[in-house]
Amino acid sequence: MWRVPLDLPPQLLSALSAVLSVDEQARAARFRFDVHRTRFIAGRAVLRQLLARYVKICPEEVVFRYSEHGKPSLEGGAAESELRFNFSNAGGMGLAAIVLGREVGVDLEELKAVSDFSGIAERFFSPAENEVLLALPAPSRDAAFFTCWTRKEAYIKAVGEGLSIPLDSFDVTLAPGDPARLLATRGETGGEVRWSLHELHPGPGFVGALAVEAPAREVLCFDWEPPDA
Ligand SMILES: CC(C)(COP(=O)(O)OP(=O)(O)OC[C@H]1O[C@@H](n2cnc3c(N)ncnc32)[C@H](O)[C@@H]1OP(=O)(O)O)[C@@H](O)C(=O)NCCC(=O)NCCS
Repeated sequence: MWRVPLDLPPQLLSALSAVLSVDEQARAARFRFDVHRTRFIAGRAVLRQLLARYVKICPEEVVFRYSEHGKPSLEGGAAESELRFNFSNAGGMGLAAIVLGREVGVDLEELKAVSDFSGIAERFFSPAENEVLLALPAPSRDAAFFTCWTRKEAYIKAVGEGLSIPLDSFDVTLAPGDPARLLATRGETGGEVRWSLHELHPGPGFVGALAVEAPAREVLCFDWEPPDA
C-alpha cells in the first residue's frame, strides 16, 4: 500500500504530467476545478511511476485497460506480471494498493460530520449494518459511518463491477474495535471467504479500507516521496 500526497508543487506536477497518456491528458483537461485536475494528474503520474517500478518499464510505457465498469488494470506486456492494483483519493491524499496475482480494491475518505447520516446510511447500507450503526452511542456514529462506507466501497472496487452490486446485498463490520470483515455476501456465493477486508490508518482525519482476494497476512504501507525531497 502506497500513500501519495496529491497537492504537489507546480514545477514537480508539470514534470510528472509528462508521463500521462493522451487520453489521460484529455481527461485532466476536462476537470472543471484546478484542484481536481492537479490531484488527478498527480495521482495518475505517481501510480504510473509505482507500477513501472514493479514491472521494470518506464512510467509512460504503462498501458491501462478499463473493465466495463471502469476498473483500470495493466494491459500489454506488463499484464503478464499479474500485478493488480487499485487507487483511491480524498482530500489531497491518494492510496495505491498494489498486489501480485489477486484482485484488490481500496477506498479512502475524509472523516467529517455528516448532517443526514441516518438518511444516507438507510439508502446505502444493509439493514444489518444500519441496525449496528443506530445502536452505537451518538459520538461514535460518524466514524462508524465512514468505516462502513470505506469497507463497502473497497469490496465493490475489488470486485470491479461498480454499483451493479446492490449495496444492501452484503454486510461489513463497522462498530469501533470490530476487525474489518465481510460478514455476508448474498450476491456472491462464498464471497466472505474469497475476500479479506483490512482497516487502514491513512492519517488523522482520514478513513481507509482495503479488500483483497484470499487472506492477506500483512499489509505493508509505504509513503511515496517526491523525487527531489
Ligand atoms: C467510481 C467508484 C469506483 C469509486 O469512486 P470514488 O469513491 O468517487 O473515487 P475513488 O477515489 O475511491 O476511486 C477512483 C479510482 O478507482 C478506480 N476505479 C474506477 N472505476 C472502478 C471500478 N469500477 N472498480 C474499481 N476501481 C475503479 C480508478 O483508479 C479511479 O481513479 P481515477 O479517478 O484517478 O481514474 C465507484 O465505486 C462509485 O461510483 N462509487 C459511488 C459511491 C457510492 O455510492 N458508494 C457507496 C458506498 S456505501
